[in-house]
Amino acid sequence: MKTIVDANEFDANALETIRDPYPALARLRASKPICWSPVSKAWYVTRYDDVRDGFRDDRLSADRIRPFCEARKDGPDGDALRLLGEHIGLWAVFNDPPRHTYLRRLMNRGFTSRAVEHQRAAIGDVVRSLVADWEEGAEIDFHQEFAYPLPTTVIALLLGVPIEDVDHLKRWSDALAQFVLTSKINPEKYRIAADALVEMNAYFTNFLKSRRKNPGELVTDRLISAADEDEDLTPDELVASCVLMLFAGHETTTQLLANGLLALIETPEQMTALRGHDAGSPVTHNAVEEMLRYDGPSLTSPRLALEDIELRGETISAGERVWLWNSAANRDLEIFADPEKFDIARDNADQHVQFGYGIHFCLGAPLARLEAQVAFPILLDAFAGFELVKPIQDWTDSYVSRGMLDMPLKVRRA
Ligand code: HEM
Repeated sequence: MKTIVDANEFDANALETIRDPYPALARLRASKPICWSPVSKAWYVTRYDDVRDGFRDDRLSADRIRPFCEARKDGPDGDALRLLGEHIGLWAVFNDPPRHTYLRRLMNRGFTSRAVEHQRAAIGDVVRSLVADWEEGAEIDFHQEFAYPLPTTVIALLLGVPIEDVDHLKRWSDALAQFVLTSKINPEKYRIAADALVEMNAYFTNFLKSRRKNPGELVTDRLISAADEDEDLTPDELVASCVLMLFAGHETTTQLLANGLLALIETPEQMTALRGHDAGSPVTHNAVEEMLRYDGPSLTSPRLALEDIELRGETISAGERVWLWNSAANRDLEIFADPEKFDIARDNADQHVQFGYGIHFCLGAPLARLEAQVAFPILLDAFAGFELVKPIQDWTDSYVSRGMLDMPLKVRRA
């Protein structure tokens, strides 16, 4: 008999869960650490050890987009889903070895820690330019005016795409997010996402062509030469990897910046403790880890069982979906003392699994970390206070990622 979670205990699609999933996740972690949700048609895994083991378990497949699209290819949105499955199915994050190994190796060649570190000064410049016009007492939308443009600009700089194209890229990514990240039942979403993907693929195909003519030292140039050297990779996989990096490179980091600032606003003593520390300080580093642990963007990482798996007395059958709840693991009392508390001095904050674990560990983690480590000291230096104009009402409608849709703030200059 399956242990069932009923919709009153936890419904990943309910508005109140989206606003604050943590109390219900804590209850599940304590009483039903492995349970079947008839609403999500998935197993929920919420304890830290189980989530981490799940990320390393090769019986749990990351290849979940293709089966989803395949199962619906003869339905009303069949054409759009076929196209999405064909292209998004090439993203490393949705592949198992051996395909994943090739794709990851390709991205690792371009997306090096050196390339990321090289952007440090540019990130600082972007941060300063974004806040330059915020006058004393001004009311701003931190989400729209800061958390959203910063990562988009930075990933564009890193990939070398022209800054004037960023708005298009953002629009296409948002459309793709409707398919990849959102649970909302929007009958149009498959078509919207498929149209955006076609445009994005065409954009990157042309961009790569132009880079081939004038190669330089960009991440993209290294990706092109890595793909040329590796006979196992197809041109479509190269394009798909660029689209993935662009897509993965901003939505999540936007949410880290906004959720992180919200945590600081809600705990003024923590904001005070962070003030005065620069980007390289261990205090800043740890504060960013704690932001990731406490209320990071990644709620859950879905997998598909390839065979029957016994776990804590439950039988997960082959073909069933399994959701590894990163966000629940990050507040597991067994690992983190007083886990519901936001504490930038927590000594094991960096044990969080916000970036996943194992072979799919987030490729962009060094970039996301660097952006936050650079941004917060500049923000806290320039502003003596941030006041929420009204409580946050609108959160992204997603069980995969957690973030606000807007964040109206009044700022006080330092
Ligand atoms: C705070 C920001 C971010 C968070 C919380 C985050 C979270 C994650 C998680 C949880 C995974 C693993 C998914 C799974 O196992 O199913 C992942 C993978 C990935 N992330 Fe991130 N990410 C962030 C920022 C970025 C950035 C800035 C990039 C830029 C390139 C990026 C690129 C990727 C890629 C390419 C993968 C796939 C890796 C693979 O499958 O081998 N991410 N991310």
